[in-house]
Amino acid sequence: MRLDKFVCKSTELTKIEAIQRISTGQICVNGDVVTNEATQVHENNTILLNGIKLKARDFRYILMHKPEGTICSNIDEVYPSLFNRLNVDNISELHIAGRLDVDSTGMVLITDDGRWSFNITTPMKECSKVYRVGLSRPVSDDVEAKFRDGIQLQGEPQLTRPAALEVIGPKEVLLTITEGKFHQVKRMFSAVGNRVVSLHREAIGTVYLDIDVGQWRYLTDIEVQSFTK
Ligand code: URA
Repeated sequence: MRLDKFVCKSTELTKIEAIQRISTGQICVNGDVVTNEATQVHENNTILLNGIKLKARDFRYILMHKPEGTICSNIDEVYPSLFNRLNVDNISELHIAGRLDVDSTGMVLITDDGRWSFNITTPMKECSKVYRVGLSRPVSDDVEAKFRDGIQLQGEPQLTRPAALEVIGPKEVLLTITEGKFHQVKRMFSAVGNRVVSLHREAIGTVYLDIDVGQWRYLTDIEVQSFTK
């Protein structure tokens, strides 16, 4: 693999930062300073950053179907953590790319790759999240346009980003948003005089939830890469 990729995989550095460290002579490969980031290296090589040995990590990318009554936290609080359902090593290294509330269900992505999860959670990347929402009353006709144009949530400096609303039943809608403010979906409906009674995340980006409640699986390579485009 290329040296810059190896440095990224074994540290928290971005590609630009890794290239900067390499080009300024901070990386040694098998005892020699290497300043070309495209140099091919192997995991058996001894690679040092400022004298400290680097070890490439294999990141983990997991999809889970969150049950109601579990929390997106690494430890149990009032409710049990959904991590209890994951029988993998080093759970404390994992985090959730976009939490769901305790009463919400659906798709949760779990990883130990912070740069990957940033692509999912930062509004800048416009990664879509699709929610199936049950409401206390039918949506009024003007809500679709309001959500498309952006609405003002209490305490937020900016309007919400354009969101797509599809009415699929008298009190049921699909809502697609590309950001994840605190309790965003509930607050959006509250701002238009409605109330969320059920909330289920069906998809993130191009990946759809395809496993039963409480189950989990590793993402495929194609699914992992779909979030880095
Ligand atoms: N928006 C909410 O209000 N709650 C969630 O769990 C997810 C999005």
